[in-house]
Amino acid sequence: MAEPHVIRVNEGDHEVVSDPRSPLLDVLRDELRLTGTKDGCSEGECGACTVLVDGQARMACLTPLGTLAGREVTTIEGLRDDPIGERLVAAFGAAGAVQCGFCSPGFVVAARAGIVAGDSSVLDMLRGNLCRCTGYAAIVEAVTDVALEHRNGYRDHSGPQGRPASLDPDDPRFIVPRSITEACEAVARLGEDALVIAGGTGRIMPAPGATPVWIGGLPKLSRIEPLSKFRIGAGVTWERLRMSGRIHHVLPALAQAAEAFGGPQIRNVATIGGNIALGSPGGDALPALAIHDASVELRSTAGTRLVPLAEAAAGRRPDELVTAVVLKHPEPDRLEFFVKVAPRKGRAVIDKVSVAFSAIRKENRLADVRIALGSAGPTVIRATAAEQLLTDSWVSAERIAAAAAAAEAVADPIDDVRPTADHRRRLVRGILTRELTRRLLL
Ligand SMILES: Cc1cc2nc3c(=O)[nH]c(=O)nc-3n(C[C@H](O)[C@H](O)[C@H](O)COP(=O)(O)OP(=O)(O)OC[C@H]3O[C@@H](n4cnc5c(N)ncnc54)[C@H](O)[C@@H]3O)c2cc1C
Ligand code: FES
Ligand code: FES
Repeated sequence: MAEPHVIRVNEGDHEVVSDPRSPLLDVLRDELRLTGTKDGCSEGECGACTVLVDGQARMACLTPLGTLAGREVTTIEGLRDDPIGERLVAAFGAAGAVQCGFCSPGFVVAARAGIVAGDSSVLDMLRGNLCRCTGYAAIVEAVTDVALEHRNGYRDHSGPQGRPASLDPDDPRFIVPRSITEACEAVARLGEDALVIAGGTGRIMPAPGATPVWIGGLPKLSRIEPLSKFRIGAGVTWERLRMSGRIHHVLPALAQAAEAFGGPQIRNVATIGGNIALGSPGGDALPALAIHDASVELRSTAGTRLVPLAEAAAGRRPDELVTAVVLKHPEPDRLEFFVKVAPRKGRAVIDKVSVAFSAIRKENRLADVRIALGSAGPTVIRATAAEQLLTDSWVSAERIAAAAAAAEAVADPIDDVRPTADHRRRLVRGILTRELTRRLLL
């Protein structure tokens, strides 16, 4: 019989009986009656459910209870006596940033996390939150006021303290392995019933009876290591990729993908390994890594093997974990970029297209050109004809036009309302023409 769980919310310990697979949002609202945290979409898109976990913004709707051992949760109610929280609430009122008020707790909590973290961009702090009635100008103004006030000397010395929450480590409904080996053993033991979760932002529909195996807390998966090959652990989050000077220096296209990825609540937990394991043609890691001929390390109780990135999703056995992505150290000073066109910053690219580009530039010639297209076909596509047109030739407007047309020709996107296949193809040509002209000819 599983022990009752104790979670720490707003500096108090609370015994809860919810299943550890339950979203924190349901536990807060239904069991603890903390209804200030709102349920807008239940799928990570709207930010109405934003809470703090150890001070970091998270979507409560995507956070299973079982991931909270040793963590401190703070909801909007917990910010009542928090100086920054109080200032934000007052500033929202003064700026007319509240209409129906449904979105406001999520905005306040997200803003509080960003201000305390010293984020320089208010727009980025709020990127994961939607408001359907006020419009954003007043909200941004209110948060900017408080952020500036904080930067100019105001400091918050309150904050969560006290005993950590405890969850029963032997609860069979939610497996929290202590090592990669234990994780592989759990997946092998559970077979088809295993549901691996890293950040839990991939909107996985669990099969009835599935048992989560949560690998998001494993430190060994969270390393970026410049060994004989460059190695990024599967558990490295998109926020870490965005912040890492090493990633900006060595893999600028991946860093740019991280800059354009989700809002902070999603980036704080979503992992590069989850992106690869999902294998969606719209996954931002895939084009940014395809231009480096990356390999994926897979591990199971049977051992470890490396497979090419393109085969990682389809060729992975259900008992295999993605443990890392591995690539040769790129030559320094490559010309590299990642550009995504999506309906709004922070949305998955599946709605439009992305282009990743890498080449060695020698005066006005390019060598070793690599172009990968995301959401332009059932898998990520390498535009090899376009690569050849640009390789070892004098770069001119005509060459760029021909290469962009060749990339457009190879794109084979789905045709739907988000937008049509024809629109996506034209976006591929437009992005390449604009970026190459701007970077090579102007
Ligand atoms: C609001 C929102 C915005 C988003 N924005 C973007 C975006 O801008 N760009 C983008 O590419 N995606 C985006 N996504 C999709 C998602 O966040 C990413 O694909 C993310 O990288 C998934 O990682 P995760 O750790 O959350 O995976 P999870 O949700 O934990 O897992 C996803 C799948 O992979 C499996 N899995 C996870 N890790 C492993 C592993 N190590 N080994 C084996 N299997 C594993 C899981 O079993 C599951 O099937 C967004 C999602 C939301 C909700
Ligand atoms: S309820 Fe919309 S992001 Fe959680
Ligand atoms: S004030 Fe109504 S949704 Fe934002």
